[in-house]
Amino acid sequence: MKYKPCWDLLHRFSENHARMRIPDQYKKLYDEMRAISDREYFPAIKEDLGRFLQFLSLLKQPKKIFEFGSGYGQSAFWFLLSINNIENNIEAIYLTETKERLWKYYDSLPWPQEWLLKINYYRGDAFKAIEELNVEEIDLLFMDGQKSSYLDFFLRIENRMSTDFPIVVVDNIFWKGNILNDLSNQQSNQQLNQQTDLIKKMSYPSVNGIEKFYNYINNSNWHSIFFPYYDGVLLLYK
Ligand SMILES: C[S@@+](CC[C@H](N)C(=O)[O-])C[C@H]1O[C@@H](n2cnc3c(N)ncnc32)[C@H](O)[C@@H]1O
Repeated sequence: MKYKPCWDLLHRFSENHARMRIPDQYKKLYDEMRAISDREYFPAIKEDLGRFLQFLSLLKQPKKIFEFGSGYGQSAFWFLLSINNIENNIEAIYLTETKERLWKYYDSLPWPQEWLLKINYYRGDAFKAIEELNVEEIDLLFMDGQKSSYLDFFLRIENRMSTDFPIVVVDNIFWKGNILNDLSNQQSNQQLNQQTDLIKKMSYPSVNGIEKFYNYINNSNWHSIFFPYYDGVLLLYK
């Protein structure tokens, strides 16, 4: 083999491979979004995962989409891009974001009017959004909020998913490999606090949250497929 297996190399290839272009009328919007994420180091999804979401949306033709953790809408951009390919598909995309700073970015972006008609941008906690917006019959759920809350959030929304081939996409399920460190299995919180390694401490709640979510899914009737994007994506369906 010419190249040693290398996660970073794979990731760079995945992000940079040749792809379809963004339609001219949406370029300005997309460029502005990317400028925000570059300037703010905001962890918006990259184009590879975005294309995957767009593809799923084209395939599934969801009526209702819900996002846990939407930032200023960069992941939603890809769902919305699928609108033009299909007649009468998406009825509503529920976006949720707690950070006020990001709401302002969302408001400043040049969203096409026909897209704004579909977007319901909830400024607050996704847990509250489920209740307040009385969300039901979700066809496609994208989870990208706080990793430590993945299971709690999923338990809250699971019975509000559509019964007709519902799809869930969960981002960062590999957590840059930290999920393999077995931190939460082997060490108590107390032991962990004694460690000087700040990064391990910081990633503990997320790793722990992702593990709990995994365990739940493994014992549920959801089917799952793991996609090895950089931070790992889990696709669930039933
Ligand atoms: C990784 S970023 C999401 C980026 C977005 N999906 C994108 O690709 O552009 C995670 C976001 O989730 C938000 N978040 C975390 N917990 C949340 C919650 N309980 N309700 C709503 N948003 C939440 C954070 O403020 C953060 O902006």
